Amino acid sequence: MSSPYEIKDNESVSNDVVWHNTTVTHEDRIKLKQQKPVVLWFTGLSGSGKSTVANAVESKLLSLGKHSYLLDGDNVRHGLNKDLGFSDDDRVENIRRIGEVAKLFVDSGAIVLTAFISPFIADREQVRGLMAEGQFLEVFIDTPMEVCEQRDPKGLYKKARAGEIKNFTGIDSKYEVPLSPEIHVKTAGKSVEECAEFVVAQLADKGYLTLR
Ligand code: ADX
Repeated sequence: MSSPYEIKDNESVSNDVVWHNTTVTHEDRIKLKQQKPVVLWFTGLSGSGKSTVANAVESKLLSLGKHSYLLDGDNVRHGLNKDLGFSDDDRVENIRRIGEVAKLFVDSGAIVLTAFISPFIADREQVRGLMAEGQFLEVFIDTPMEVCEQRDPKGLYKKARAGEIKNFTGIDSKYEVPLSPEIHVKTAGKSVEECAEFVVAQLADKGYLTLR
């Protein structure tokens, strides 16, 4: 691949760092994998079901013989992004790094699922801008705040209400709802299985999968 990056004068990539074209190309890898690489960018409130639905979708992709990789907020924050917290700036950097990682995985030919709150529209759009046309699908896991708070799987809403966690999404940190997500999953009244089936059906409709 030739360099997809445009380096501006004020950016910090040294002039001595030169893009190296690889011998094995993106096209070679997708031919081998027989699939259309894409990022399924799950976004939604904490406790909305992003990770759960993304996991269920990934299982379905596996059974369809697709090679995928799931990048999950809580897990990535244990390693690559363990230096980041939940201030607006840290969230922006969290999503920027994940976008770059997702881009590499897409280049490898994988179907990438990411499960991050990713609360800001501008950051999600920035990641979209990193990918080639058709390689980014925003998947909005649309669960009302009251339902997330009622579920409170990690007890975090309770702690945030008690003032023990600052900058909690939906309480004292904002969540910007996707304006036109490619896949809109309204989870209320649906099982995880139904939500996952819906996502897979949408992928098939959009030409990313052939269902047998
Ligand atoms: S993001 O906003 O930067 O995209 P990310 O998805 O990586 O967030 O991490 C969110 C997860 O971190 C939540 O599911 C929750 O388990 C945990 N968490 C801890 N503190 C916070 C907080 N202040 N706001 C939101 N989530 C938090």
